[in-house]
Amino acid sequence: MTRYYANDAGPDPLSDAFARRTAVMPFRGKKRLPAEEIETRWRAILSAPSWPGKRLVYVHIPFCANHCLFCGFYRNAYVPQTGADYVKLVIEEIRREARAPALRDNPVHAVYFGGGTPTALSARELSDLLATVRAELPLAPDCEITVEGRIIHFDPEKIDACLEAGANRFSIGVQSFDTEVRRRQGRRASREEAVRFLEGIRDRDRAALVIDLIYGLPGQTPEVWHQDLETAAALAPDGIDLYGLNLIPGTPLSKAISAGKFPAAAGLGDIGALYRAGADFFRRRNWRQLTNNHWGRTTRERNIYNMLIKEGADCLAFGSGAGGSIGRYSYGLTSDLQRYGEDMHAGRKPIGMLSASDAIQPLRDRVTAGFEVGHLDLAGLEKAAGGAIASGLFTPLLAQWRQAGLLTLEDETIELTVAGRFWYANLISAFHEILQTQLCPTDNAA
Ligand SMILES: C[S@@+](CC[C@H](N)C(=O)[O-])C[C@H]1O[C@@H](n2cnc3c(N)ncnc32)[C@H](O)[C@@H]1O
Ligand code: SF4
Repeated sequence: MTRYYANDAGPDPLSDAFARRTAVMPFRGKKRLPAEEIETRWRAILSAPSWPGKRLVYVHIPFCANHCLFCGFYRNAYVPQTGADYVKLVIEEIRREARAPALRDNPVHAVYFGGGTPTALSARELSDLLATVRAELPLAPDCEITVEGRIIHFDPEKIDACLEAGANRFSIGVQSFDTEVRRRQGRRASREEAVRFLEGIRDRDRAALVIDLIYGLPGQTPEVWHQDLETAAALAPDGIDLYGLNLIPGTPLSKAISAGKFPAAAGLGDIGALYRAGADFFRRRNWRQLTNNHWGRTTRERNIYNMLIKEGADCLAFGSGAGGSIGRYSYGLTSDLQRYGEDMHAGRKPIGMLSASDAIQPLRDRVTAGFEVGHLDLAGLEKAAGGAIASGLFTPLLAQWRQAGLLTLEDETIELTVAGRFWYANLISAFHEILQTQLCPTDNAA
């Protein structure tokens, strides 16, 4: 247990509670099925009735205008004909499955068109995709329908096409408003263009507007960061996401830093201070903190997709590179566009990976969802474990984390401090590992 302890002797837990930020392992407790079993198992999954409960739909659009230096999501350059062919296949994929028992009977509460860059597609293609999802799948009347996009190539015709077709939320990646910081990362629009574009969406007043910002980008000093926050808030969007720069090996930025073309990325101390500046900024303005990285200003912003996915809600996935889950099965569709096309033409779901979760996945989900919103009901977790977790199992660890300034604990309820929210992935990973050791001791390598 002591290996999960935080440093409690440093001056500021935000910068030095742990040596590094860990990522939550998405495949813990999941067993991959052999490739030859996938098709049969998928058919069985589709023909089983769906369970009541909140459900999601994810549609992946794996094209971008260019590869932004920091980004690990880039897969394919956008070429109009390839995009058009792809959209036809995704529409076909949705239509093929829409009548299956697993999809048809219970309402869907949030749909996310993510990428890549959905807004790289034409107005007509965006409209057709949205119309297909709405016509074919059982969306709840108050379903959140998000289109993720960026400024470049998202013209007024496309915005209106999305709105007319039923999108009610736009999540726009801005990253920074500083023209120089943006351009160095491959984002061509200037501050003025970015602001004008966002005002255009806001002033239509027909959908929630969410802005993504990254902190810790090269050249983004604390002053630039403060200006980014001020500019974003002055636009009066419905929500804002703040993401600490994750320097992903293999990305153009990571390679450029290794080659000495960029100064080293900001250290953890600097990143932590930028997070605190962001959290303080929104607290002073009375924005609601919905998750560790997301703040809402208006009641229009619900953030349903992002919250439910962390809770482990079923997610029906379509498109090359999409990931989803149905019951205890998780699946990923191949990110190889050619194979995606071949499988679709052969009448197969283009699944690249199918895995089955173990019995403690609901407990992991409960931990993840709780720490994501900065609030975990410990008694509820123990109850959900049905006596399988020894009472007081987490007590010494939580006492140490409290001592280190990461949380408060009252009435068996954990509340994360700002530092705890910054380190939330470390806390989730520690809980997951402890649950694994306690409940599946022989399966620890999973
Ligand atoms: C899946 S990306 C798609 C964004 C969209 N295509 C765009 O270009 O704005 C969603 C968000 O992830 C965040 N993101 C991407 N790479 C990141 C990184 N290396 N570190 C932190 N956040 C990152 C960005 O804020 C981005 O807006
Ligand atoms: S930030 Fe967006 S547009 Fe840029 S590479 Fe990543 S997914 Fe593509």
